[in-house]
Amino acid sequence: TFVVTEPCIQCKYTDCVAVCPMDCFMEGPNFLVINPDECIDCSVCVAECPVGAIVGDREIKPEQAHYLELNRTLSKHPDWRRITVRKEPLADHERWATVTDKLSLLEK
Ligand code: SF4
Ligand code: F3S
Repeated sequence: TFVVTEPCIQCKYTDCVAVCPMDCFMEGPNFLVINPDECIDCSVCVAECPVGAIVGDREIKPEQAHYLELNRTLSKHPDWRRITVRKEPLADHERWATVTDKLSLLEK
């Protein structure tokens, strides 16, 4: 499966959702996740993300490995909704795009 990782937090560009043939992106307040049970590993979403947030589970760096479980659990979050149409990124996306260590800011 492919996994949304830290750079997406507080940015949420949503270019990824427009190309997914399986519509497997789920949206929270300031982050998106991929439902691993629906992703068919086509990889077309990877190049769409301006901040490189989407990686394959086999290439994920050890320090981002917890995002695997996070994508799985948040894709089942009762308040998160499927997103299939691109929308405007979050207001401060430019500022947050270069910030690391954003996990504590993730809203669920
Ligand atoms: Fe969708 Fe393909 Fe990306 Fe999986 S790899 S989330 S199926 S676009
Ligand atoms: Fe997030 Fe990148 Fe998609 S910032 S919403 S994974 S295009």
